Amino acid sequence: MITATWHGHSCYTIDIDGTKIVVDPFLTGSPVARMKADEVEADFILLSHGHSDHLGDALAIAARTGATIVAPNELAVYCGEQGAAVHPMHIGGGFNFPWGRLQLTIAHHGSALIEDGGRPLYLGSPCGFLIKTETKCIYFAGDTGLFLDMKLIGDRNRIDLALLPIGDNFTMGVEDAVTATEYLKPKVAIPMHYGTWEVIDTDPEEFAAGTEKVGIKSVVLQVGESYTIE
Ligand code: NI
Ligand code: MN
Repeated sequence: MITATWHGHSCYTIDIDGTKIVVDPFLTGSPVARMKADEVEADFILLSHGHSDHLGDALAIAARTGATIVAPNELAVYCGEQGAAVHPMHIGGGFNFPWGRLQLTIAHHGSALIEDGGRPLYLGSPCGFLIKTETKCIYFAGDTGLFLDMKLIGDRNRIDLALLPIGDNFTMGVEDAVTATEYLKPKVAIPMHYGTWEVIDTDPEEFAAGTEKVGIKSVVLQVGESYTIE
């Protein structure tokens, strides 16, 4: 059984038959997260890019739990230098982990960590994730604008659950995210990366209404709420 719990912004904990996977654990600095970084259970931590609202508490959680950080190579190497166990990957590449197959997808965005003094430390390309078990497939888009290759992702994968940013400004807004669901054709879409700050305060119900019009089911989660793939 796969259960995905949303912790606000792009942070999810995904339980795959007891294996705990944490995606983009932005908790301590998040105005909306309720879960504390020191209570997260983690076997693996997936990082889509190096922005602080995605790298978040990853290093602290990895240090406490011993979880392996999986990320695009440059970001993974950075985390490894900070003492974490890492599994570097890159876009297009997949790997069969004990809990399932993970493949990195493109995402149109940036991936720099802003150091003290405002200097960007570039950490390679951002990515999205395809998480596949024998029977289920989750697509986590990461931070990205709409791109036509989502059609390719949708054509080649039977996506049970698509996790899509809708907040606009830094990523797709509502209208583009609705188009993304037409390209991806998931059984269910869940919006993310909105409402955290005023600048990305879009309406998830507008997204849900939009996807319904194109024949795609959406589920709007409250912070802390879970969705289980049957
Ligand atoms: Ni970002
Ligand atoms: Mn972000």
